[in-house]
Amino acid sequence: MSVEKTLHKIQNALDQDLKAVTSAKEVELLRVKYLGKKGSIQGLMSLLRTCTPEERPQIGKLINELKVKTTTLLDEKEQKLGALELNEQLKGEVEDVTLPGRRRNQGRRHISLETLDEALDILMGMGFSVQYGPDIESDYYNFEALNFAKDHPARDMQDTFYISGDTLLRTHTSNIQVRVMEGTKPPIRIVGPGNCYRNEDITPRSHVQFLQIEVLYVDKNVTFADLMATLKEFYTKFFSKEMKLRYRPSYFPFVEPGMEVDINCISCGGEGCILCKNSGWLEVCGAGMVHPEVLKSGGVDPEEYTGYAFGMGPDRLTLLRHGIPDIRLVLEDNLRFLQQF
Ligand code: DAH
Repeated sequence: MSVEKTLHKIQNALDQDLKAVTSAKEVELLRVKYLGKKGSIQGLMSLLRTCTPEERPQIGKLINELKVKTTTLLDEKEQKLGALELNEQLKGEVEDVTLPGRRRNQGRRHISLETLDEALDILMGMGFSVQYGPDIESDYYNFEALNFAKDHPARDMQDTFYISGDTLLRTHTSNIQVRVMEGTKPPIRIVGPGNCYRNEDITPRSHVQFLQIEVLYVDKNVTFADLMATLKEFYTKFFSKEMKLRYRPSYFPFVEPGMEVDINCISCGGEGCILCKNSGWLEVCGAGMVHPEVLKSGGVDPEEYTGYAFGMGPDRLTLLRHGIPDIRLVLEDNLRFLQQF
């Protein structure tokens, strides 16, 4: 029998078979029968050897065409039958509308960042713009430019994580002060939020990583009274009620004079309770007038300009606001705890 005749025969047999199949599974069997290693089309290859060299290209082409056509026909049939089968199957199934749905947890802002956003909103409303400094910082911006000499005892107040040599994890957001002064001509009114790191014991009140917000205002004639007014306004807005503030002299190398700021206890209002340890006051912030040496580090002439700076920990505000007794609850991702807010 000539090769063409054999091709025809195969083609006819395939047509018959395709008419007869009723399921996608059967189509797979046909695929093996025609296109498999021992299938009839593969078998034609041995016939090629009996052809003359002149006939060979033509016959090869015919065999190839049959192969492609067979594949297409089988694919089409399989798809068609597959779709029908799926339809049939779905007809037989009933949706159980009484099944309880799967609850999806909705994400939301972390309470720490909520406090931070709110504090930034208030400060931006007062004319400060947000500036970010790096978490990985040089000894220079974190200490030296802020008037902490290398052997300055105040460095011991901040147990520092050193990365290598003069590179460290910033211990406070005050690192932004000189960076901003270097890049901006006064007036400067910025707020710098971010994470800080200290090698401290982890306790209900302290952690190795925490948020801080640094505020810096440098201009002509900035006074201590401006600083006090800004602090009072900030805390009054934050707690949505008139706050009383108390200023205690304190020492930070980068401000002079420096102070610690207390607000009247938000739990007892000043009478004394467990939260304020019966003092009536809560410490919330460090503040002061920018030290002339720091202005100089930033290229600002202390004869012409003055400035104030304050730094606070919004994590503490989060604890106060929500009555949370332990900072670890806020900083360590305990979803069951955080979801209640
Ligand atoms: N950087 C200080 C700290 O982390 C806080 C601070 C105190 C910031 C006084 C200031 C300031 O801007 O004036 O302990």
